[in-house]
Amino acid sequence: MDSTTIKQLDQQFVIQSWSKQANRDAKVVTHSDGIYFWDQNNKKYFDMNAQLIYANLGHKHPRIMNALAKINQLEISAPGFASASKSKLAKKIVELAPANMAKVYFTTAGAESNEQAMKMAKAVTGGYKIFSRYRSYHGSTFGAGNLTGESRRLGSEPSPPGFVKFDMPYVYREYQQYTSEQELSAQYLTRLERQINCEGPETIAALVIETIPGSNGVLLPPDGYIKGIETLCRRYHIMMICDEVMSGFGRSGEWFACNHYDVEPDLITFAKGVTGGYLPLGGVILSEQVAKHFDTNHFSSGATYSGHPLVCEIGNAAIAAYEELDTINHVKRMEKVLGERLQRLLAYKYVGDVRIKGLFAAVELVKNKVTKEPIIDYGSDYGKDTQGYMGAFTKLLSEEGFSTFNHESNVLITPPLTITTAEIHEAMDLFEKALVAFEELYPEMEEGHALNL
Ligand SMILES: Cc1ncc(COP(=O)(O)O)c(C=O)c1O
Repeated sequence: MDSTTIKQLDQQFVIQSWSKQANRDAKVVTHSDGIYFWDQNNKKYFDMNAQLIYANLGHKHPRIMNALAKINQLEISAPGFASASKSKLAKKIVELAPANMAKVYFTTAGAESNEQAMKMAKAVTGGYKIFSRYRSYHGSTFGAGNLTGESRRLGSEPSPPGFVKFDMPYVYREYQQYTSEQELSAQYLTRLERQINCEGPETIAALVIETIPGSNGVLLPPDGYIKGIETLCRRYHIMMICDEVMSGFGRSGEWFACNHYDVEPDLITFAKGVTGGYLPLGGVILSEQVAKHFDTNHFSSGATYSGHPLVCEIGNAAIAAYEELDTINHVKRMEKVLGERLQRLLAYKYVGDVRIKGLFAAVELVKNKVTKEPIIDYGSDYGKDTQGYMGAFTKLLSEEGFSTFNHESNVLITPPLTITTAEIHEAMDLFEKALVAFEELYPEMEEGHALNL
Protein backbone atom coordinates (compact mmCIF):
# COMPACT_ATOMS: atom_id res chain seq x y z
CA MET A 1 0.00 0.00 0.00
CA ASP A 2 1.45 3.41 -0.89
CA SER A 3 1.92 6.09 1.75
CA THR A 4 -0.80 8.37 0.40
CA THR A 5 -3.38 5.59 0.75
CA ILE A 6 -2.10 4.66 4.21
CA LYS A 7 -2.49 8.26 5.37
CA GLN A 8 -5.91 8.60 3.81
CA LEU A 9 -7.22 5.39 5.44
CA ASP A 10 -5.68 6.38 8.75
CA GLN A 11 -7.44 9.75 8.59
CA GLN A 12 -10.73 8.10 7.64
CA PHE A 13 -10.82 5.06 9.94
CA VAL A 14 -8.39 5.46 12.84
CA ILE A 15 -8.96 7.40 16.04
CA GLN A 16 -5.70 8.98 17.08
CA SER A 17 -4.71 9.45 20.76
CA TRP A 18 -4.93 12.85 22.45
CA SER A 19 -6.01 14.90 19.44
CA LYS A 20 -8.87 16.36 17.49
CA GLN A 21 -9.42 14.01 14.62
CA ALA A 22 -10.03 16.35 11.70
CA ASN A 23 -7.09 17.30 9.48
CA ARG A 24 -4.47 15.30 11.30
CA ASP A 25 -1.16 14.89 9.54
CA ALA A 26 0.23 11.54 10.69
CA LYS A 27 3.62 10.58 9.32
CA VAL A 28 4.08 7.09 7.89
CA VAL A 29 7.22 5.26 8.98
CA THR A 30 8.37 3.63 5.77
CA HIS A 31 11.72 2.38 6.98
CA SER A 32 13.70 2.28 10.23
CA ASP A 33 17.07 1.19 11.47
CA GLY A 34 18.89 1.68 14.80
CA ILE A 35 18.07 5.15 16.13
CA TYR A 36 16.65 6.36 12.80
CA PHE A 37 13.39 6.20 10.91
CA TRP A 38 12.28 7.57 7.55
CA ASP A 39 8.89 9.03 6.64
CA GLN A 40 6.79 8.86 3.45
CA ASN A 41 8.90 11.63 1.90
CA ASN A 42 12.04 9.65 2.60
CA LYS A 43 13.02 12.21 5.21
CA LYS A 44 15.34 10.80 7.86
CA TYR A 45 14.71 11.40 11.56
CA PHE A 46 16.78 10.81 14.68
CA ASP A 47 14.26 8.96 16.86
CA MET A 48 15.13 10.95 19.97
CA ASN A 49 11.99 9.82 21.77
CA ALA A 50 12.41 6.10 20.99
CA GLN A 51 8.90 6.32 19.48
CA LEU A 52 7.06 6.68 22.80
CA ILE A 53 10.02 5.89 25.06
CA TYR A 54 9.68 2.23 24.28
CA ALA A 55 12.02 1.51 21.34
CA ASN A 56 14.83 1.35 23.87
CA LEU A 57 16.85 -1.12 21.77
CA GLY A 58 16.39 0.95 18.64
CA HIS A 59 14.71 -0.20 15.46
CA LYS A 60 15.30 -3.61 13.84
CA HIS A 61 17.52 -4.92 16.60
CA PRO A 62 18.91 -8.20 15.15
CA ARG A 63 18.32 -10.27 18.29
CA ILE A 64 14.68 -9.20 18.47
CA MET A 65 14.09 -9.59 14.74
CA ASN A 66 15.45 -13.10 15.06
CA ALA A 67 13.25 -13.88 18.07
CA LEU A 68 10.20 -12.47 16.26
CA ALA A 69 10.91 -14.73 13.31
CA LYS A 70 10.97 -17.76 15.62
CA ILE A 71 7.98 -17.16 17.91
CA ASN A 72 5.70 -18.96 15.47
CA GLN A 73 7.27 -22.18 16.77
CA LEU A 74 5.89 -21.59 20.27
CA GLU A 75 2.61 -22.91 21.60
CA ILE A 76 0.06 -20.34 22.68
CA SER A 77 -1.60 -20.99 26.02
CA ALA A 78 -4.01 -19.08 28.25
CA PRO A 79 -2.93 -17.43 31.54
CA GLY A 80 -3.89 -20.48 33.60
CA PHE A 81 -1.21 -22.57 31.88
CA ALA A 82 2.50 -22.40 32.66
CA SER A 83 4.81 -21.64 29.76
CA ALA A 84 8.59 -21.58 29.42
CA SER A 85 8.74 -18.00 28.18
CA LYS A 86 6.46 -16.66 30.93
CA SER A 87 8.25 -18.52 33.75
CA LYS A 88 11.67 -17.50 32.48
CA LEU A 89 10.72 -13.84 32.05
CA ALA A 90 9.10 -13.55 35.49
CA LYS A 91 12.20 -15.06 37.13
CA LYS A 92 14.49 -12.71 35.22
CA ILE A 93 12.47 -9.60 36.09
CA VAL A 94 12.45 -10.53 39.79
CA GLU A 95 16.24 -10.94 39.64
CA LEU A 96 16.69 -7.48 38.10
CA ALA A 97 14.29 -5.77 40.53
CA PRO A 98 15.15 -4.65 44.11
CA ALA A 99 16.00 -7.49 46.48
CA ASN A 100 12.60 -7.62 48.22
CA MET A 101 10.71 -8.40 44.99
CA ALA A 102 9.30 -11.90 44.52
CA LYS A 103 6.67 -12.35 41.77
CA VAL A 104 5.28 -10.81 38.58
CA TYR A 105 1.73 -10.36 37.33
CA PHE A 106 1.76 -9.71 33.58
CA THR A 107 -0.47 -7.22 31.79
CA THR A 108 -0.42 -5.75 28.30
CA ALA A 109 0.31 -2.05 29.00
CA GLY A 110 1.30 0.59 31.51
CA ALA A 111 -2.15 1.84 32.47
CA GLU A 112 -3.39 -1.70 33.05
CA SER A 113 -0.36 -2.38 35.27
CA ASN A 114 -1.26 0.61 37.42
CA GLU A 115 -4.90 -0.49 37.61
CA GLN A 116 -3.80 -3.90 38.86
CA ALA A 117 -1.27 -2.49 41.34
CA MET A 118 -3.99 -0.30 42.89
CA LYS A 119 -6.28 -3.32 43.26
CA MET A 120 -3.50 -5.35 44.88
CA ALA A 121 -2.74 -2.57 47.37
CA LYS A 122 -6.41 -2.31 48.29
CA ALA A 123 -6.66 -6.07 48.76
CA VAL A 124 -3.58 -6.22 50.99
CA THR A 125 -4.25 -3.17 53.18
CA GLY A 126 -8.03 -2.99 53.27
CA GLY A 127 -7.73 0.75 52.54
CA TYR A 128 -9.40 2.40 49.58
CA LYS A 129 -7.67 5.75 49.11
CA ILE A 130 -4.87 6.11 46.61
CA PHE A 131 -2.47 9.04 46.88
CA SER A 132 -0.65 10.28 43.78
CA ARG A 133 1.03 13.48 42.65
CA TYR A 134 -0.11 16.35 40.45
CA ARG A 135 2.77 16.34 37.99
CA SER A 136 2.47 12.70 37.04
CA TYR A 137 1.10 10.57 34.22
CA HIS A 138 -0.05 7.02 34.90
CA GLY A 139 -2.21 6.13 31.87
CA SER A 140 -5.61 6.96 30.40
CA THR A 141 -7.93 4.15 31.51
CA PHE A 142 -10.51 5.16 34.11
CA GLY A 143 -8.46 4.31 37.21
CA ALA A 144 -5.02 5.16 35.83
CA GLY A 145 -6.49 8.31 34.28
CA ASN A 146 -7.64 9.47 37.69
CA LEU A 147 -4.34 8.40 39.23
CA THR A 148 -2.69 10.78 36.78
CA GLY A 149 -2.20 14.21 38.30
CA GLU A 150 -1.62 16.50 35.33
CA SER A 151 -4.12 17.86 32.84
CA ARG A 152 -4.49 14.60 30.91
CA ARG A 153 -6.47 13.48 33.98
CA LEU A 154 -9.35 15.80 33.18
CA GLY A 155 -10.92 13.58 30.51
CA SER A 156 -11.26 10.76 33.09
CA GLU A 157 -12.91 12.91 35.77
CA PRO A 158 -14.98 12.81 37.88
CA SER A 159 -12.98 10.15 39.64
CA PRO A 160 -14.30 7.27 41.70
CA PRO A 161 -14.01 7.97 45.44
CA GLY A 162 -10.60 7.68 47.02
CA PHE A 163 -8.19 9.37 44.62
CA VAL A 164 -6.19 12.00 46.54
CA LYS A 165 -3.49 14.24 45.04
CA PHE A 166 -0.49 15.75 46.76
CA ASP A 167 2.11 18.31 45.72
CA MET A 168 5.69 17.42 44.92
CA PRO A 169 9.03 19.19 44.68
CA TYR A 170 9.90 20.88 41.40
CA VAL A 171 13.40 22.10 42.09
CA TYR A 172 13.63 24.52 39.13
CA ARG A 173 10.34 26.16 40.06
CA GLU A 174 10.54 26.00 43.82
CA TYR A 175 8.69 28.81 45.54
CA GLN A 176 9.89 28.31 49.08
CA GLN A 177 13.22 29.01 50.73
CA TYR A 178 15.57 26.13 51.41
CA THR A 179 19.27 25.73 52.00
CA SER A 180 19.72 22.13 50.85
CA GLU A 181 17.81 19.56 48.84
CA GLN A 182 17.43 17.50 52.02
CA GLU A 183 15.68 20.43 53.65
CA LEU A 184 13.39 20.92 50.65
CA SER A 185 12.48 17.22 50.72
CA ALA A 186 11.75 17.44 54.45
CA GLN A 187 9.35 20.34 53.86
CA TYR A 188 7.36 18.37 51.27
CA LEU A 189 7.42 15.21 53.37
CA THR A 190 6.15 17.06 56.44
CA ARG A 191 3.20 18.41 54.46
CA LEU A 192 2.54 14.97 53.01
CA GLU A 193 2.56 13.42 56.48
CA ARG A 194 0.02 15.99 57.64
CA GLN A 195 -2.15 15.18 54.64
CA ILE A 196 -1.91 11.45 55.38
CA ASN A 197 -3.02 12.10 58.95
CA CYS A 198 -5.87 14.35 57.83
CA GLU A 199 -7.11 11.71 55.38
CA GLY A 200 -6.89 8.91 57.98
CA PRO A 201 -3.92 6.59 57.43
CA GLU A 202 -6.02 3.43 57.82
CA THR A 203 -8.14 4.47 54.81
CA ILE A 204 -5.09 4.76 52.52
CA ALA A 205 -4.10 1.74 50.44
CA ALA A 206 -1.23 3.15 48.41
CA LEU A 207 0.96 6.05 47.57
CA VAL A 208 1.84 5.97 43.88
CA ILE A 209 4.78 7.82 42.37
CA GLU A 210 6.48 7.87 39.03
CA THR A 211 9.91 7.40 40.59
CA ILE A 212 11.13 10.04 38.14
CA PRO A 213 8.15 11.76 36.49
CA GLY A 214 8.86 11.45 32.78
CA SER A 215 6.42 13.08 30.41
CA ASN A 216 6.02 16.00 32.81
CA GLY A 217 9.65 16.89 32.27
CA VAL A 218 12.02 14.39 33.96
CA LEU A 219 11.47 16.02 37.34
CA LEU A 220 14.37 14.71 39.37
CA PRO A 221 13.55 14.18 43.05
CA PRO A 222 15.66 16.18 45.51
CA ASP A 223 17.97 14.28 47.87
CA GLY A 224 16.15 12.28 50.49
CA TYR A 225 12.68 12.66 48.96
CA ILE A 226 12.09 9.14 47.62
CA LYS A 227 13.59 7.57 50.74
CA GLY A 228 11.29 9.83 52.79
CA ILE A 229 8.27 8.58 50.84
CA GLU A 230 9.27 5.02 51.71
CA THR A 231 9.61 5.97 55.39
CA LEU A 232 6.11 7.46 55.46
CA CYS A 233 4.68 4.39 53.74
CA ARG A 234 6.25 2.11 56.33
CA ARG A 235 5.19 4.34 59.24
CA TYR A 236 1.54 4.31 58.18
CA HIS A 237 1.35 0.82 56.62
CA ILE A 238 0.66 2.19 53.16
CA MET A 239 1.83 0.37 50.01
CA MET A 240 4.55 2.21 48.11
CA ILE A 241 3.96 1.80 44.37
CA CYS A 242 6.66 2.95 41.95
CA ASP A 243 5.40 3.47 38.42
CA GLU A 244 8.42 2.56 36.30
CA VAL A 245 6.52 2.23 33.03
CA MET A 246 8.76 4.86 31.47
CA SER A 247 11.79 4.82 33.75
CA GLY A 248 12.23 1.04 33.96
CA PHE A 249 14.56 -1.29 32.04
CA GLY A 250 17.66 0.87 31.95
CA ARG A 251 16.27 4.26 30.95
CA SER A 252 17.63 6.06 34.04
CA GLY A 253 20.95 4.19 34.10
CA GLU A 254 19.68 1.48 36.48
CA TRP A 255 17.35 -1.40 35.73
CA PHE A 256 14.72 0.46 37.72
CA ALA A 257 14.93 4.12 38.71
CA CYS A 258 14.07 3.26 42.33
CA ASN A 259 17.51 1.57 42.54
CA HIS A 260 19.06 5.07 42.60
CA TYR A 261 17.32 5.91 45.85
CA ASP A 262 17.93 2.88 48.05
CA VAL A 263 14.25 1.96 48.46
CA GLU A 264 12.30 -1.27 48.35
CA PRO A 265 8.80 -0.50 47.04
CA ASP A 266 5.91 -2.87 47.67
CA LEU A 267 4.90 -2.87 44.02
CA ILE A 268 6.60 -1.75 40.82
CA THR A 269 4.70 -1.31 37.58
CA PHE A 270 6.40 -1.65 34.19
CA ALA A 271 5.67 -1.84 30.44
CA LYS A 272 7.29 -0.12 27.40
CA GLY A 273 11.01 -1.08 27.59
CA VAL A 274 10.42 -4.65 28.77
CA THR A 275 10.11 -5.78 25.13
CA GLY A 276 12.05 -2.85 23.65
CA GLY A 277 8.59 -1.89 22.38
CA TYR A 278 8.43 -4.69 19.81
CA LEU A 279 5.27 -6.23 21.33
CA PRO A 280 2.85 -4.90 23.97
CA LEU A 281 3.65 -6.17 27.46
CA GLY A 282 3.42 -4.74 30.96
CA GLY A 283 3.22 -5.97 34.49
CA VAL A 284 3.39 -5.52 38.23
CA ILE A 285 6.30 -6.76 40.33
CA LEU A 286 5.15 -7.77 43.81
CA SER A 287 7.28 -7.73 46.94
CA GLU A 288 7.61 -10.94 48.86
CA GLN A 289 5.21 -9.62 51.50
CA VAL A 290 2.54 -8.70 48.94
CA ALA A 291 3.04 -11.95 47.04
CA LYS A 292 2.62 -13.92 50.29
CA HIS A 293 -0.72 -12.25 50.92
CA PHE A 294 -2.06 -13.86 47.78
CA ASP A 295 -0.85 -17.32 48.82
CA THR A 296 -3.81 -17.56 51.13
CA ASN A 297 -6.08 -14.82 49.80
CA HIS A 298 -7.85 -14.94 46.47
CA PHE A 299 -6.15 -12.91 43.71
CA SER A 300 -9.15 -11.23 42.19
CA SER A 301 -7.90 -10.24 38.73
CA GLY A 302 -7.30 -11.76 35.38
CA ALA A 303 -6.94 -10.93 31.71
CA THR A 304 -6.99 -13.04 28.59
CA TYR A 305 -3.54 -11.97 27.47
CA SER A 306 -1.79 -11.99 30.85
CA GLY A 307 1.61 -13.57 30.23
CA HIS A 308 1.01 -14.41 26.57
CA PRO A 309 3.84 -16.83 25.69
CA LEU A 310 4.76 -15.21 22.38
CA VAL A 311 4.96 -11.77 23.90
CA CYS A 312 6.94 -13.02 26.91
CA GLU A 313 9.43 -14.59 24.52
CA ILE A 314 10.13 -11.16 23.07
CA GLY A 315 10.53 -9.84 26.63
CA ASN A 316 13.19 -12.51 27.19
CA ALA A 317 14.92 -11.56 23.94
CA ALA A 318 14.87 -7.87 24.85
CA ILE A 319 16.38 -8.43 28.29
CA ALA A 320 19.03 -10.71 26.77
CA ALA A 321 19.82 -7.91 24.30
CA TYR A 322 20.06 -5.30 27.09
CA GLU A 323 22.47 -7.57 28.95
CA GLU A 324 24.51 -8.39 25.85
CA LEU A 325 24.94 -4.65 25.20
CA ASP A 326 25.89 -3.99 28.84
CA THR A 327 23.13 -1.42 28.62
CA ILE A 328 23.29 -0.07 32.17
CA ASN A 329 26.98 0.86 31.86
CA HIS A 330 26.50 2.12 28.32
CA VAL A 331 23.67 4.40 29.47
CA LYS A 332 25.84 5.74 32.29
CA ARG A 333 28.59 6.57 29.78
CA MET A 334 26.15 8.20 27.35
CA GLU A 335 24.61 10.22 30.20
CA LYS A 336 27.93 12.08 30.48
CA VAL A 337 28.02 12.82 26.75
CA LEU A 338 24.41 13.98 26.55
CA GLY A 339 24.68 15.79 29.88
CA GLU A 340 27.55 17.94 28.57
CA ARG A 341 25.59 18.80 25.44
CA LEU A 342 22.59 19.75 27.57
CA GLN A 343 24.67 22.10 29.70
CA ARG A 344 25.61 23.97 26.52
CA LEU A 345 21.95 24.63 25.82
CA LEU A 346 21.68 26.84 28.91
CA ALA A 347 23.47 29.58 26.91
CA TYR A 348 20.41 29.89 24.65
CA LYS A 349 17.88 32.60 25.32
CA TYR A 350 14.82 30.45 25.88
CA VAL A 351 16.32 27.43 27.65
CA GLY A 352 15.47 27.69 31.34
CA ASP A 353 16.58 24.33 32.69
CA VAL A 354 17.98 20.98 31.60
CA ARG A 355 17.61 17.73 33.54
CA ILE A 356 19.07 14.29 32.96
CA LYS A 357 19.30 10.89 34.64
CA GLY A 358 20.71 8.14 32.42
CA LEU A 359 19.25 8.72 28.97
CA PHE A 360 16.14 10.25 30.50
CA ALA A 361 16.40 13.98 29.77
CA ALA A 362 14.29 17.10 29.36
CA VAL A 363 14.88 20.66 28.22
CA GLU A 364 12.52 23.18 29.83
CA LEU A 365 11.79 26.28 27.76
CA VAL A 366 10.87 29.65 29.24
CA LYS A 367 9.91 33.02 27.82
CA ASN A 368 12.13 34.80 30.29
CA LYS A 369 14.93 33.29 32.31
CA VAL A 370 14.55 35.75 35.19
CA THR A 371 10.81 35.33 35.74
CA LYS A 372 10.90 31.70 34.51
CA GLU A 373 7.60 32.27 32.77
CA PRO A 374 6.87 28.96 30.99
CA ILE A 375 6.92 29.03 27.20
CA ILE A 376 3.28 27.96 27.30
CA ASP A 377 0.90 28.17 30.25
CA TYR A 378 0.27 25.04 32.33
CA GLY A 379 -2.50 22.93 30.85
CA SER A 380 -2.66 24.98 27.66
CA ASP A 381 -1.49 22.13 25.42
CA TYR A 382 -4.36 19.91 26.57
CA GLY A 383 -7.10 19.57 23.99
CA LYS A 384 -5.95 22.57 21.98
CA ASP A 385 -5.20 22.85 18.26
CA THR A 386 -2.04 24.81 18.71
CA GLN A 387 0.77 24.67 21.18
CA GLY A 388 1.87 28.27 20.64
CA TYR A 389 5.60 28.86 20.96
CA MET A 390 6.16 25.24 21.93
CA GLY A 391 4.45 24.07 18.75
CA ALA A 392 6.71 26.40 16.76
CA PHE A 393 9.83 24.99 18.39
CA THR A 394 8.94 21.34 17.92
CA LYS A 395 8.13 22.06 14.26
CA LEU A 396 11.64 23.44 13.85
CA LEU A 397 13.07 20.36 15.55
CA SER A 398 11.11 18.11 13.23
CA GLU A 399 12.29 20.05 10.19
CA GLU A 400 15.86 19.43 11.34
CA GLY A 401 15.07 15.70 11.56
CA PHE A 402 15.00 15.56 15.38
CA SER A 403 11.88 13.61 16.34
CA THR A 404 10.71 13.86 19.92
CA PHE A 405 7.85 14.43 22.35
CA ASN A 406 6.96 17.65 24.10
CA HIS A 407 4.52 18.27 26.91
CA GLU A 408 3.82 21.56 28.65
CA SER A 409 7.08 23.54 28.40
CA ASN A 410 9.35 20.50 28.27
CA VAL A 411 11.00 18.80 25.33
CA LEU A 412 11.99 15.23 26.14
CA ILE A 413 15.26 13.74 24.94
CA THR A 414 14.92 10.01 25.44
CA PRO A 415 16.62 8.20 22.56
CA PRO A 416 17.05 4.45 22.16
CA LEU A 417 19.49 3.29 24.85
CA THR A 418 21.74 1.96 22.10
CA ILE A 419 22.66 5.47 20.90
CA THR A 420 26.39 6.16 20.44
CA THR A 421 28.54 9.18 21.30
CA ALA A 422 28.73 10.27 17.65
CA GLU A 423 24.96 9.96 17.24
CA ILE A 424 24.33 12.06 20.36
CA HIS A 425 26.58 14.81 18.98
CA GLU A 426 24.91 14.74 15.56
CA ALA A 427 21.44 14.85 17.09
CA MET A 428 22.29 17.64 19.51
CA ASP A 429 23.82 19.69 16.67
CA LEU A 430 20.35 19.51 15.10
CA PHE A 431 18.75 20.54 18.40
CA GLU A 432 21.02 23.60 18.58
CA LYS A 433 20.27 24.51 14.96
CA ALA A 434 16.57 24.47 15.85
CA LEU A 435 17.25 26.70 18.88
CA VAL A 436 19.14 29.22 16.71
CA ALA A 437 16.26 29.27 14.21
CA PHE A 438 13.79 29.67 17.10
CA GLU A 439 15.63 32.74 18.43
CA GLU A 440 15.68 34.21 14.93
CA LEU A 441 11.96 33.58 14.56
CA TYR A 442 11.18 35.07 17.97
CA PRO A 443 13.79 37.67 18.94
CA GLU A 444 11.22 38.82 21.51
CA MET A 445 8.29 36.99 23.04
CA GLU A 446 4.99 38.25 24.21
CA GLU A 447 5.20 37.82 27.96
CA GLY A 448 2.17 37.45 30.16
CA HIS A 449 2.09 37.17 33.87
CA ALA A 450 5.14 35.49 35.38
CA LEU A 451 3.48 32.33 36.58
CA ASN A 452 5.88 30.43 38.78
CA LEU A 453 4.35 27.09 37.89
C1 LIG B 1 4.88 6.65 33.82
C2 LIG B 1 3.81 6.09 32.95
N1 LIG B 1 2.87 5.31 33.48
C3 LIG B 1 1.90 4.77 32.74
C4 LIG B 1 1.82 5.01 31.39
C5 LIG B 1 0.71 4.41 30.58
O1 LIG B 1 1.21 3.39 29.81
P1 LIG B 1 0.33 2.86 28.55
O2 LIG B 1 0.28 3.97 27.58
O3 LIG B 1 1.10 1.66 28.07
O4 LIG B 1 -1.00 2.49 29.08
C6 LIG B 1 2.79 5.81 30.78
C7 LIG B 1 2.74 6.08 29.33
O5 LIG B 1 3.45 6.89 28.79
C8 LIG B 1 3.80 6.38 31.57
O6 LIG B 1 4.74 7.18 31.05
